[in-house]
Amino acid sequence: MSRPPLSGKTIVLGVSGSIAAYKAAELTSRLLQLGAAVQVAMTPAAARFVAPLTFQSLTHRPVITDLFAPTSDIAVDHVALAQQADAFVVAPATANTVAALAHWLAGNPGATLALSVSAPMILCPAMEHNMFDHPATQANLALLKQRGAVIVEPEEGRLASGLVGKGRLADLDVIIGTVRHVLGLSGDLAGRRIVVTAGGTREPVDPVRFITNRSSGKMGHAIAEAARDRGARVTLITTTPPPVQAAAGVDVRRVATALEMQAAVAEAVRGADALIMAAAVADYRPAAAAPQKIKKRNADGVLELQLVRNPDILASVDAPVVKVGFAAETENVLENARAKLLEKGLAIIAANDVTAPDSGFDADTNRVTIIHASGDVEALPTMPKIEVAHALLDRVKALLD
Ligand code: C5P
Repeated sequence: MSRPPLSGKTIVLGVSGSIAAYKAAELTSRLLQLGAAVQVAMTPAAARFVAPLTFQSLTHRPVITDLFAPTSDIAVDHVALAQQADAFVVAPATANTVAALAHWLAGNPGATLALSVSAPMILCPAMEHNMFDHPATQANLALLKQRGAVIVEPEEGRLASGLVGKGRLADLDVIIGTVRHVLGLSGDLAGRRIVVTAGGTREPVDPVRFITNRSSGKMGHAIAEAARDRGARVTLITTTPPPVQAAAGVDVRRVATALEMQAAVAEAVRGADALIMAAAVADYRPAAAAPQKIKKRNADGVLELQLVRNPDILASVDAPVVKVGFAAETENVLENARAKLLEKGLAIIAANDVTAPDSGFDADTNRVTIIHASGDVEALPTMPKIEVAHALLDRVKALLD
């Protein structure tokens, strides 16, 4: 098993007094599960919404609740710890705390703590939408952004007041993805640009039907996430519609057809270091999509669909990038994969037998054999897709170095 993605990282989590403070407990738990050490600091208002004991029990550390208590050795120790933090996350950040952080308001514990933390700041505002939209809040956020803070925008939705608007604390997946992105910026792929494709293309038959395949997009999304965690700038060209969310910090382009994917890849590979094509591209598309829904009223009960070949996207890329392909096979896995590596001019191809239950479409694990242009063959064991992603990126990194 590889190390959890946030192991060795210390995160100071500032919690301010919004009803969303209860979500910070779940955030704490998830950051801990990802291997981070979490030091929680709460404003007095936050401590009225959620007991500090909740965070203390989760983190096994005293919670900083009063930075100004003159006799508090704990606070002094833990401020020292805060100074070693890798990230300072404020979630939820109220309008009041945003203002305090923007202007270093004396007397506000969050602002005092922020002064002692030199790590990147990630702010996750949560407040009533009229407070969020207020020019004062927007100006404060702009000021903080200018100073380098990363703002995780709140979501639209139902607010505690019962009104609907933009002000709900961002989804925890987005907050965690942003933390991982920010912490990964100094990773071993920092400065690299990687283009990843994911999902099965959809080739329209008529306005309501398309031809597709069983690709879930999981492998490509895992590669994008792993590359993001290691500091690469990632462009993910994916066919997977929401709710499959792309990792935060990844530049996502959504496409449907092979031709759209080809155009998006051609544009994205300019200046990139590597192209990893995990997408299952349809080999054929209907010659022309019918402009209206095809009816079943034809006399002989037979519908003929003429298909034409799609271009081979990988083979068509001649930019100087490390090209990585996948070969989803049902038989003669290695021979077929080797032939594809040569035809498409690849540095590496990851071959898998998609008929195996733990390998291929929709599984969370994959068992791939990596074939190198040099002829080397490495058979990897069955692993979670995120670990397969890291293994491939290790090989890509070695080629780039
Ligand atoms: O030829 P085959 O479809 O098996 O090759 C698989 C690899 O080639 C995958 O990496 C896939 O993304 C890529 N491919 C492509 N364009 C196509 C078909 C496949 O880039 N038209």
